[in-house]
Amino acid sequence: MGILKVFLIGAECAPFVKVGGLADVLGALPKYIKRLGVEAVTVLPLYPLVDQTRFHLQFQDNLVVHTGKGDIPFDVFKYVDEDGIVHYFLKQDHYFNRNAVYGEIDDAERFFAFSLASILLAEREKADVIHANDWHTAVVPVLVKDRHLPFRTVFTIHNLAYQGLCDSSLEEFLMLNRDMAAKMRQDDHTMNPMKGGILCSDYVTTVSPTYAKEILTPEYGMGLNDVLLQRQDRLIGILNGIDTELFNPATDPMIYENFTSEWEKKLQNANALRKELKLQEGDFPLIGLVSRFVEQKGIDLVAQALDDIVGLGAQFVALGTGDKQYEEALLGAGEKHPGFVSVNITFDPALAQRVYAGSTHFLMPSRFEPCGLGQMIALRYGSVPIVRRTGGLADTIFDVDQCDHGNGFVFEEQTPEALIACVKRAIRIYKNERDKHVQLFKRCLSWDVSWDKSAQAYVDLYRKALQ
Ligand code: GLC
Repeated sequence: MGILKVFLIGAECAPFVKVGGLADVLGALPKYIKRLGVEAVTVLPLYPLVDQTRFHLQFQDNLVVHTGKGDIPFDVFKYVDEDGIVHYFLKQDHYFNRNAVYGEIDDAERFFAFSLASILLAEREKADVIHANDWHTAVVPVLVKDRHLPFRTVFTIHNLAYQGLCDSSLEEFLMLNRDMAAKMRQDDHTMNPMKGGILCSDYVTTVSPTYAKEILTPEYGMGLNDVLLQRQDRLIGILNGIDTELFNPATDPMIYENFTSEWEKKLQNANALRKELKLQEGDFPLIGLVSRFVEQKGIDLVAQALDDIVGLGAQFVALGTGDKQYEEALLGAGEKHPGFVSVNITFDPALAQRVYAGSTHFLMPSRFEPCGLGQMIALRYGSVPIVRRTGGLADTIFDVDQCDHGNGFVFEEQTPEALIACVKRAIRIYKNERDKHVQLFKRCLSWDVSWDKSAQAYVDLYRKALQ
C-alpha cells in the first residue's frame, strides 16, 4: 500500500486566510499528520485576501465543474510551504473575488461550487480520504456518497451553530438525486448542508470530547441533536492542539520580551502592554480577552461584570471584532475606567500575541465552546485561564481549587455573578499568595497543548475509515 493521502478542505486556513479557529486547525494539523507518515494536502478557495506577494502560487491547470447552472471553470494554483505541505487554491473570480470570506448573499452556492471543484481535484490527485470541515464543505460527503466516488470521508464539526441553511433549489445546482437531497432537507423549502455532512460521512468528528457529548442534547444540539444521535457510533471528539512552534513565547517575534519560565519577564511583558495601551502602571492583575465578539463567547457577561472586575483591583484588555451590540457593550463598559480597561475593536494578530504574553490571566466565559484555542495559547504564554466549564474548555482547564494540579479557574453558571466570583478567586491568589500564582504560571507554561496526541487520533481514524 502506498502512502495514505488525505485532502483537508475548508473555507479558511492559516496563514493564508483566517477568520476564526478553523483556520488555525487547518493551518497546523497537516504538518503534524505529515510527521506521522501521512500525506496531507489542503484545498482552499483563492480569495483576494491571500497575500500573493508573500506566497508565490504556481498556476497548475484548470478544472471545470458541472452544475445545474451549467459548467463553471476553476483555475488550480499550488503552493508548497516550508514543511513540504502542498496547498491547493481554487480560483473562481465570480464566486471568490470578494472582500469578505463569509456573509455574502450567495455563500451556499459559492461554497458548493468550491466543494464540487475540490472533489474533482481529489479525484485527479488520487486522494484516499477527504476530510471536510464545517458546513462550507459539508456537501462533499453527500456528493461522494451520491456518486459512489472512491473516497472515504471524515467530516469535522468546528461549530454546530453555523449550518449553512439555504434554499432547497440549490439541490438542483448540486444535481443531487432525490433520496440524497431528502437527507439534507431541513423543511420543504430549506436545505441544511451540516445535516448532510453528518449523515453521509464515514466518520463525524468534533473538536473536543465534551462537545461531542454536549451536542447530543437539545441544549447544545442546535436542532441537530437527533440527527447526531443517529450517528452516535460514528461520532468522535478529538481535542484540537495548537502549533507550539508558531505559538512559542521563547521565540515569538511579536512579543516585547521572549521568555521560557521567568516570572520577571512575564511582568516585563505586562508592563510593556500597559504602556502600549495606555493603562496605569503598577502591579495589578491584568486580565486579557482575545475573541470574536459574538453571542457564543459570553461577551455580554463580561460587559456586565466589568465594573466589579475593576472594583476588585484588576485591569482588563479586550481585543477582537464581531457583532456591533457586543462591541458597543464592551466599549461602553470600558469607557468608565480609563487607565484600567482597554477595549480594542480590531483584528490584529500581532497585538493578540502581546496580549497573551502580557496578561496575567485570560478570560473565556463562553456559553458554548466546541474546543477553543485561546485558552491553549494562554497556557502556552503563562496567562492563567479563567473559563466557563463547557465543551473544550472543560477538557483543557482544571480548577486549582478542585484538583491538586489545576491550571486555571473554572465556573459553571452563565451569569455575571458566577464570572465575578471566579475572577475574585483568581485575583485573591495573585494579590495575597504570589508564590502560588507564580507556581500556577509555571504549570500553565509546561502544560501539553501540542497536536501530537490528536494528530495520531486523526491518522488512526483515517486508517479505520479505509478498512
Ligand atoms: C470554531 C469553534 C472553536 C474551535 C475552532 C477550531 O471556531 O468555535 O471552539 O476551537 O472552531 O476547531
